[in-house]
Amino acid sequence: MQIFIDTADLDEIQEACSWGIVDGLTTNPTLIRKAVEGRDELDIETHLEEICRIVPGPVSLEVASLGSDEMVAEAVGLFDRFNSVSGNVVIKIPANTSTDEGDPDFEGLKAIAELARRSIPVNATLIMTPEQALLCAKAGAAYVSPFMGRVDDFTSAASGEGSASAGSRLVLEIARIFRTYAFDCKIIAASVRHVRHVRDAELAGADIATIPFSVLIQMARHPKTSEGIERFTTDLVPSYSQLLSTLSTR
Ligand code: E4P
Repeated sequence: MQIFIDTADLDEIQEACSWGIVDGLTTNPTLIRKAVEGRDELDIETHLEEICRIVPGPVSLEVASLGSDEMVAEAVGLFDRFNSVSGNVVIKIPANTSTDEGDPDFEGLKAIAELARRSIPVNATLIMTPEQALLCAKAGAAYVSPFMGRVDDFTSAASGEGSASAGSRLVLEIARIFRTYAFDCKIIAASVRHVRHVRDAELAGADIATIPFSVLIQMARHPKTSEGIERFTTDLVPSYSQLLSTLSTR
């Protein structure tokens, strides 16, 4: 399973990339807000350009409009501007942009279909059901992003070390469907809130998990690993310590 980092914060991106584990990145308007808020000197265009340059894989940038024509125009603008940096831009389009029953429900699908016709790769976002994933894949999305944490919130499912949550089941079901029908569409497990979500995404067969920096840190930790390090440090005999220091300065 590939690991994407779910952030627009340059310090977090640089740090995680230095660990050699980052295969791509996802942003959304909320993550961009967190990255730029309170930093008046920051130029958003340069910032996004830098992200595209640093990340060694697909970078998802999201549109903000709700109508299909407007979303396509924004998508083309983002793609033309930033894909030239490293050739790695993917456009995030919501599965459905309606906010109440009076709104049309299919603007996202129309935008995905049009962008697919133009060979602009789409990450269909805000996927909460296997049916939305199916529609977006059929419309031509290159990726679908099921939102594990938000589905857990919606169903009030217990999270943490228990049995598979609703969000975990969502990824599992989409993976099963996509495998059965051999869809050419990758699954990005998104809205990852804790380490257990990452493991469930792997076990479910997600192609990718997009993971916040704080969860990446947790993934590297275990109390017994820390205890082991303390023990090895305490047990170090002077002769071995001396040998190591001699060899490392040769
Ligand atoms: C990823 O593509 C999503 O933007 C992100 O995972 C959303 O996570 P959240 O539900 O924690 O905001």
